[in-house]
Amino acid sequence: GELVTWDGECRPVLSPICVRHADGSVRQMDIGSVPVMGVEHSDQALAAAVRAWDHGRGAWPTMSTAQRITCMQDFTRQMAAQRDTVVRLIMWEIGKSLADSRKEFDRTLEYIEATIAALKALDNDASRFAQAEGFAGQIRRTPLGVVLCMGPYNYPLNETFATLIPALLMGNTVVFKPPQYGTLLFAPLLEALRSAFPPGVVNTIYAPGSLVVPRLLASGQVNVLALIGSSRIADHLKKQHPKSHRLRAVLGLDAKNAAIVLADADLDLAVRECVAGALSFNGQRCTALKMLLVHRSIVKPFLQRMGEAIAALKLGMPWEDGVQITPLPGPHRTAYMDEALRDAQSRGARVLNGGGGDSCVTLYRPALVYPVREGMQLYREEQFGPLVPVADFEDVEEALQYVVTSEHGQQVSLFGQDPAQLGALIDPLVNQVCRVNLNSQCQRGPDVFPFAGRKDSAEGTLSVTDALRAFSIRSMVAARQ
Ligand code: G3H
Repeated sequence: GELVTWDGECRPVLSPICVRHADGSVRQMDIGSVPVMGVEHSDQALAAAVRAWDHGRGAWPTMSTAQRITCMQDFTRQMAAQRDTVVRLIMWEIGKSLADSRKEFDRTLEYIEATIAALKALDNDASRFAQAEGFAGQIRRTPLGVVLCMGPYNYPLNETFATLIPALLMGNTVVFKPPQYGTLLFAPLLEALRSAFPPGVVNTIYAPGSLVVPRLLASGQVNVLALIGSSRIADHLKKQHPKSHRLRAVLGLDAKNAAIVLADADLDLAVRECVAGALSFNGQRCTALKMLLVHRSIVKPFLQRMGEAIAALKLGMPWEDGVQITPLPGPHRTAYMDEALRDAQSRGARVLNGGGGDSCVTLYRPALVYPVREGMQLYREEQFGPLVPVADFEDVEEALQYVVTSEHGQQVSLFGQDPAQLGALIDPLVNQVCRVNLNSQCQRGPDVFPFAGRKDSAEGTLSVTDALRAFSIRSMVAARQ
């Protein structure tokens, strides 16, 4: 709840952007440094959040909704003033194109405004008053306590705020840890967070997650874990809480969204949507299409057109106009892509396009891989990068089976034109994933739509109103009439 001057250890922040040095070596640019806090500092941050919550008696959890909204609007005014700085930091830190970095910032401000509007509507909701069997009651949405928020590197601002903002608006106090990649961009917002909210309501930790986060949960003082990140980490963290069944979790996790392209699909449209769905921001989206299942009768022309469309994508630096493929966070990610390609090739798949590195060690040409089969890494693993695996099917039941047997259950795209066939597939699919996209790619937005997942992909529902619900509980005051 206060700004702390740091004179302890710092770590360098490396950009995905590489430069060639005089000795000929190509290295990632060092663009800044962040504090490496230890457990004593994260303990202090948690203690501040616990004090500000004060068993629900703190200034923030007891403040009226209208006052909380005023604080949030003060914050957003200050945040808007930092747009250029934050946008450039997003671009330099995670290699997102300048256009998409701007979109991420603007989408976040719009999300905050929409969440405030939804909160006003919830607060005026007629269902807040109940009368039954001689009782009259006022029903309220009340906060849950201390929320630990963590977002992913691919949407460091937007998806951290997708939980932090609704958690705050509902009256919770927050500890948040910026992602490892995408961390500097929060610095210009820290003063706004400090000045807009009462002391201790928002506390930021710059520390290695593996060192401090399990300990925060083991303290038993975190009431809600809000994580958008990996399923493996979420499972590990939940186990740290002394009474894990009492830890509420709001989680957005791994996904392996498939596209099912039926024999009568409009090929131009399917190719356009599959390229964008698989390769926007280099495939580094939880909603990206990560497996394309194509009817055998059209797989040849589909591959041909996909190959042409992928070859036409513009690779380059994130500030270049019209750039579509930009550097990955570090050489460990290009090494993973190489390994997945080698594995597929050694088991009989062909790499039809691209692959391999480039002069910039983090820039990776997208690859189309076919046929991808059970047993290959790319068949089940979430590649989270510019690899596009394709498999074919004869009977649509085989495609359904892929979805049914997946560990993940976020979304599916379905391409076809016969309403009867599409209709017959929707019901089984929507009971396996949380969104079926008809003739369009998978995506989270519009942000007022529910965003959820089944199986390993999520816990709880995010979106504007759903997130307000996720960070609150319905309580009531009842009296005999
Ligand atoms: O990375 C996961 C995000 O929720 C994806 O959001 O579909 O708007 O790109 P998006």
